[in-house]
Amino acid sequence: MLVKTTEFITSATRPSHYPPGEMPEVAFAGRSNVGKSSLINVLLNRKNLVRTSSTPGRTQLINFFGVNGAFMLVDLPGYGFAKVPLAVKKQWGPMMETYLSSRENLRVVVLILDIRRVPTAEDRQMLEWLRAYSVPPLLVVTKCDKVSKNERARQAALIARTLEVEKEELHFFSALSKEGKDAIWVAIERLLSA
Ligand code: GTP
Ligand code: MG
Repeated sequence: MLVKTTEFITSATRPSHYPPGEMPEVAFAGRSNVGKSSLINVLLNRKNLVRTSSTPGRTQLINFFGVNGAFMLVDLPGYGFAKVPLAVKKQWGPMMETYLSSRENLRVVVLILDIRRVPTAEDRQMLEWLRAYSVPPLLVVTKCDKVSKNERARQAALIARTLEVEKEELHFFSALSKEGKDAIWVAIERLLSA
């Protein structure tokens, strides 16, 4: 993908605030702190278009970014972090379900997992929602720079088994080395043109 222009469009919590129009969308979901915003920045060749943070729960709104004036990348708030205020947590489920179930132009959700962790019940829930709403998932396993090749293979098998998917469906990524960037773009482009 040749990224020519990128722009922040808007933040939203509910449909009346989503950007209007028919532009296809690619959304990024996963646990708090897993590296969603970092992945988007790498895909867009930007250091800080999307705010990243070592504090989990930084992204609490649905943030829309335009690419080449042709499609949007959507940074979703992460789940599963205990220290997020209760009010924010309560808002998260309905906000995500509304977005996933009602957004007609949503073409793919990139579900991001940490290579060092076993997927949680919430990760599995997310995958189930995507299936229920017929949104194709793209599975990305990130922070691969943190493990050895052997550990990667072992963890990939565990992650695939826990999510009940084939190992071949996992895309390996690192925001540090940028490993996997091109393959993820190819997969996104294929789903955008499907
Ligand atoms: P929330 O918005 O809070 O849900 O987090 P997020 O999923 O957007 O994570 P973010 O991109 O902000 O990254 C969280 C932390 O992980 C930051 O300190 C990043 O620098 C770090 N990080 C993200 N991706 C990688 C990676 O591939 N490798 C390493 N080593 N660190 C990463
Ligand atoms: Mg974020």
